[in-house]
Amino acid sequence: MEVKNKVVVVTGGASGIGLSTAKLLAESGARVAIFDVNEQALNEAVSVIGGDCLAVCVNVANEASVSAGFDRVVERYGGIDAAVLNAGILRDGLLIRVDKDTGKVKGKMPLEQWQAVIDVNLTGVFLTGREAACRMVDCGRKGVIVLLSSIAKKGNMGQTPYSAAKAGVAALANVWGKELARFGIRVASVSPGFIETPMVMKDMKPEMLDKFKKMIPVGRLGRPEEIAHAIRFVVENDLICASDIEPSGGMSL
Ligand SMILES: NC(=O)c1ccc[n+]([C@@H]2O[C@H](COP(=O)([O-])OP(=O)(O)OC[C@H]3O[C@@H](n4cnc5c(N)ncnc54)[C@H](O)[C@@H]3O)[C@@H](O)[C@H]2O)c1
Repeated sequence: MEVKNKVVVVTGGASGIGLSTAKLLAESGARVAIFDVNEQALNEAVSVIGGDCLAVCVNVANEASVSAGFDRVVERYGGIDAAVLNAGILRDGLLIRVDKDTGKVKGKMPLEQWQAVIDVNLTGVFLTGREAACRMVDCGRKGVIVLLSSIAKKGNMGQTPYSAAKAGVAALANVWGKELARFGIRVASVSPGFIETPMVMKDMKPEMLDKFKKMIPVGRLGRPEEIAHAIRFVVENDLICASDIEPSGGMSL
């Protein structure tokens, strides 16, 4: 699909990979709508992205909010051609913690921690992906939906809900890629490795950063713009469907 003049929704578009993707697609001539829960970041993002950009405060985990967000996009642009389902959160922790002295369990992951990540990273993708597909079909447009998974989909220590959600997201790319191709809609996932975004860098200690770099064959974390390029590639290449690509610098779990 040629990006120029297409209408693209980017969820979580106010920060990190979403912001870089929205900017790159706008520079490529797309009309971009960003969805995010962070209102202040949304307002700042609009000036970074430039072009004909619409910012809508949407919680991807809330069905009514998602539906209202897509209404705004269709009202403003008359339809939708592509969606990048990128909004996500991290709430890392171990499943159980065991006391060294007694050998007994002293803590377990709270249900709320599991649920918060599943709600945004998996249910949020379900809600926004379902809505994007409905709008594409109803507006009579062919389209493409790109889902943000992660190399954590294989199972990363300390990431019970995150890994489960990202495995689910990679599976959805395959399910939806097969189901929606008959309507001219392609679906694929992008699974980044460690990328320098606020999500990863927020509480990163220098010694931890050095440890991560040693785990990555190319010797550095990825940059959000590099993931944005991979996403644009999926949007543009009409043969990519029901599959996953891993821009990870060679890192694998
Ligand atoms: N940074 C990495 O190393 C990395 C690696 C693999 C996958 N990913 C995935 O890429 C995506 C983007 O991550 P990032 O690193 O740019 O993170 P980020 O924290 O910089 O950006 C995420 C954005 O999503 C928004 N968001 C959070 N919850 C939301 C909700 N309920 N509704 C709407 N918006 C919401 C946030 O406000 C934020 O603007 C995520 O899905 C993440 O899991 C990131």
